Amino acid sequence: MTLVEKINETCDFLRQKGMTAPEFGLILGSGLGELAEEVENAVVLDYADIPNWGRSTVVGHAGKLVYGDLAGRKVLALQGRFHFYEGNPLEVVTFPVRVMKALGCVGVLVTNAAGGIGFGPGTLMAISDHINMTGQNPLIGENLDDFGPRFPDMSNAYTADYRKTAFAVADKLGVKLDEGVYIGVTGPCYETPAEIRAFKTLGADAVGMSTVPEVIVAAHSGLKVLGISAITNHAAGFQSELNHEEVVAVTERIKEDFKTLVKAILAEL
Ligand code: HPA
Repeated sequence: MTLVEKINETCDFLRQKGMTAPEFGLILGSGLGELAEEVENAVVLDYADIPNWGRSTVVGHAGKLVYGDLAGRKVLALQGRFHFYEGNPLEVVTFPVRVMKALGCVGVLVTNAAGGIGFGPGTLMAISDHINMTGQNPLIGENLDDFGPRFPDMSNAYTADYRKTAFAVADKLGVKLDEGVYIGVTGPCYETPAEIRAFKTLGADAVGMSTVPEVIVAAHSGLKVLGISAITNHAAGFQSELNHEEVVAVTERIKEDFKTLVKAILAEL
């Protein structure tokens, strides 16, 4: 089956299950998936039951697709995403974004846990731009002309208007929202201190193992994007040790602010 045939097959399946007309896609990263539990009139599918869909294997990622109403919008939410480091091809990692577009979404809200380069744990950061440090690109291969051009512009991959709305909403709620550049790596190891020093020189404010492939595919197809990083730790070299448990623990701490913020933003997009 070609990629387009797979996308069509999956969309047909999801429509049959009632996931008919999403406006926004939500990609919820490590520990942030709880937001999907607030979706009303929800249709919920296990990833394992969806054709052509990947499998989520990371602690803190549930592996469910949730469709329904959140903050007055129709959303299609990924509770747990697919990572390249899990061994998923980028076609699988980005497949949900293709499906979001094909089902009619106008925008996607992409979230992640990230290490802070400058920003400390607990910071919420709106992503203004990214640096693709993965050495990979999800658009390699035959171009899907129905989605976008062979050589897509990435100048405005993160939609300025969405960010403006996010800052206005954060202000109103009294939630602190910073802004910065996300550098995407493959993982699964955390970075070395020398890598983080290099990334700082390159202009990165946060580092993580996701988001970049999904946003490239979203931008290719003309989806608007809001990216929010939850900074869970100081990146390597700025603290003594890094571990996934800490990432999950800090996410626990900031997720109430995160959920409140994302819902309020959604209502305004
Ligand atoms: N590096 C890469 N990915 C991450 C980090 C980090 O420090 N923290 C959370 N995700």
